Amino acid sequence: MEDNNIQNPEGIPAKLAELEEDEFHHVNNPAAGIKPIVKKYLSRPVSAEQKNNKFYFSDGDAKVEITVVTDEIIRVRLAPHGVFLDEFSYAVPKLEKKVSVFGLNELEEEYVVYTNIINCHIRKTDFFISFSDNQNFITSSDAVPMHWEENVKFGGYYVYCTKTCHSNESFFGMGDKATELNLRGKRLKNWNTDAYSFAWNQDPLYRSIPFYISLNEGIAHGIFFDNTFKADFDFGAEDPTKTSFWAEGGELQYYYIHGPHMMDVVKRYHLLTGTHPMPPMWALGYHQCRWSYYPESKVRMVTKTFREKKIPCDGIYLDIDYMDGYRCFTWNRKYFPDPKKMIKELSEQGFKTVVIIDPGIRVDDNYSVFKEGKENRYFCRRCDDYFMEGHVWPGRCQFPDFTNPEVREWWGNLFDELVQLGVAGVWNDMNEPAVFGTGTFPDDVRHQYDGQRGSHRKAHNVYGMQMVRATYEGLRKIMKNKRPFTITRAGYSGVQRFSSVWTGDNVASWEHLILGNIMCQRLSISGVSFCGTDIGGFSGEPDGELFTRWIQLGTFSPFMRAHSAGDTKEREPWSFGEPYTSINRKFIELRYRLLPYLYSAFWEHHRYGFPIVRPVVMHEQFEPTNHFRQDEFTYGDKILVCPVLAAGQKDRKVYLPKGKWYNFWTHELVDGGKELMVAAPLETMPIFVKAGSVIPEYPVMQYVGEKEIEEVKMNVYYSDFEANSFIFEDYGETFAYEQDIYLEKKFVVRGKENKLTIQQSMEGLYTPRYENYHMNIIGLPFKPTRIIVDDHEVKDFMIASDKTVQLKLRKNFTQLVIN
Ligand code: GLC
Repeated sequence: MEDNNIQNPEGIPAKLAELEEDEFHHVNNPAAGIKPIVKKYLSRPVSAEQKNNKFYFSDGDAKVEITVVTDEIIRVRLAPHGVFLDEFSYAVPKLEKKVSVFGLNELEEEYVVYTNIINCHIRKTDFFISFSDNQNFITSSDAVPMHWEENVKFGGYYVYCTKTCHSNESFFGMGDKATELNLRGKRLKNWNTDAYSFAWNQDPLYRSIPFYISLNEGIAHGIFFDNTFKADFDFGAEDPTKTSFWAEGGELQYYYIHGPHMMDVVKRYHLLTGTHPMPPMWALGYHQCRWSYYPESKVRMVTKTFREKKIPCDGIYLDIDYMDGYRCFTWNRKYFPDPKKMIKELSEQGFKTVVIIDPGIRVDDNYSVFKEGKENRYFCRRCDDYFMEGHVWPGRCQFPDFTNPEVREWWGNLFDELVQLGVAGVWNDMNEPAVFGTGTFPDDVRHQYDGQRGSHRKAHNVYGMQMVRATYEGLRKIMKNKRPFTITRAGYSGVQRFSSVWTGDNVASWEHLILGNIMCQRLSISGVSFCGTDIGGFSGEPDGELFTRWIQLGTFSPFMRAHSAGDTKEREPWSFGEPYTSINRKFIELRYRLLPYLYSAFWEHHRYGFPIVRPVVMHEQFEPTNHFRQDEFTYGDKILVCPVLAAGQKDRKVYLPKGKWYNFWTHELVDGGKELMVAAPLETMPIFVKAGSVIPEYPVMQYVGEKEIEEVKMNVYYSDFEANSFIFEDYGETFAYEQDIYLEKKFVVRGKENKLTIQQSMEGLYTPRYENYHMNIIGLPFKPTRIIVDDHEVKDFMIASDKTVQLKLRKNFTQLVIN
């Protein structure tokens, strides 16, 4: 199962014998008495015991705990010698019991822990654990019992779980892996890694999300292996009949998450690990970044050009060169003599300033952040009590232990000055943690781990998440009722509660455009919906076509930012001249037009755990060919896009799930359930809208808040069946939504041969300022003669040259009938 045969003995491999010679001999403890290291397997359960929603089974030595979490989620833990670790998880902050009917049945051959929906079977002969639904369909079963093996270097255990892999089983999830969307046949590692210019199939990358979704015979289930140590997953790579996951330490602890739909699994994974908080609406606009925009005059020139060229933009980023010698929380006064004035003036032009912060704190006794950290012993220490030092941008650095709550609080407060200067967002980088030369910290670095203690082996994968948590919580406190914006490179499951992410240092190539598309879909179904790629590619040089195609994909990435490395040519939306500038503008404008739609999809994510970007397989999981589709995806549940991913294309094949779809550009109505050839010259890309949808649209703005919204355009796409749409509105930048001050609107569209009814219902305490909707009815199959709104006839409507029906309505109408 592992590359090193010391760790994978079935019997005793030769290398192990050598090890015993070299390492086990000790004068007081002759190796003669030491048993060879072999994998140990659970044998057979000899006892069963229940304590509330926890069930314990023992084979006389090892113990297994089965916890019923909800009707559809069961957690499994293994204690090789009967002693479980304290309950603690950075990923699952609170494990609430949300189930009332559950119990244990003892049958002749097995024990069954059951809920109303699922069963967990523990086989009496060999401790095999399996799960089934209430139709007795086995969704997941052990291929061998859970096992472990002494980790001689560490003193703990490797822990393993091996499940049966079925011949047509597909696998999805796992965060930001740079490979095909379907993970069948792959072996992947979780160990957060700074992977500059990563390649296709390179692994591991920046984040660790030990969560996968299996799809077998059309039924989905998920496994979340909540273990922060270096871990591996094998999806039928070594043996096509087995799926395994194992870690180099920690507890074998996993959650079985029932489907049957992929969407159910993803929603339930969010129930455990949380969702993104609502972002400030401006964070959903376009962001411009570069390593680095400096000095101030350069920043001003770039921002001025956006306004002159009328290309919308909300975020402008300062990369490491804004600092004094790369010391976090300082300014290079030569480049930025008066940051407060600059940020204020940028903000008057509608730009929010986002600054980068790295975890490496320069060792410098004249630098207050270092001094404070040193005096309070906030930096990470080696086990022999020296502070851990490593080189990053500022030179020799020490690193805060973000797993210590006191350090997080200190770190959070350090942002006070930046916030007072007007900084609106913080970009958390290099937090895998990255160290030049060695890659990362040595394993023996000690972490406080919120009182649970841990070496870097245990804390490595959560370090970045705890850094951005410290940042987010600090900003949240300092900014009071304003929503902070944070972005992070590293993360672990649950990082979404604190931050958005980008996929790291990608490359300006078509292959990376393909990868970026897959990685965003994958992140989105792995809990991290608020994600995006460096548009244009971080390293290397895109040509105008590649950049424009990337802008098009970015228009439909929940996070939209162009970024590039310092040694590349200028990379703004106008850098490639015409026709690229105009096309880029058109798509960035489209991003702003669709903001209320994206914002509503974000709410559905935040409140209900839906991913924002959804691969096609999530819509039609029963269709085996969909398991391998990775180009097209839906943005929310109404808009399907298919980015153009190769040079020189004028059209491309697009698969549409079953149902009726409108071509966004031409309004042509097409039937789904098949592939179509769709025109895709550079100035366009395939976009389809589900029939029956109501898509809200804002007027084009140069930045969020530029204009008071006077009316919202409602694009209604006629359907001859009933369809629901959902729109969310609130203040856009405060936490009032946590006090239930928001509005959820539901539209029901019902079409007949010569009649269309649109009903609106609303729930919530928020009142938008605008008064009217501009209704834009698309695809009406008849010529309207009479329009009745809440029992009053509306005479004032227009049929436009593109056959759409246009009319104005009061925003709180309840029923519109068109005959
Ligand atoms: C890292 C980041 C990149 C950033 C650079 C300089 O490579 O991934 O986005 O621009 O560091 O700070």
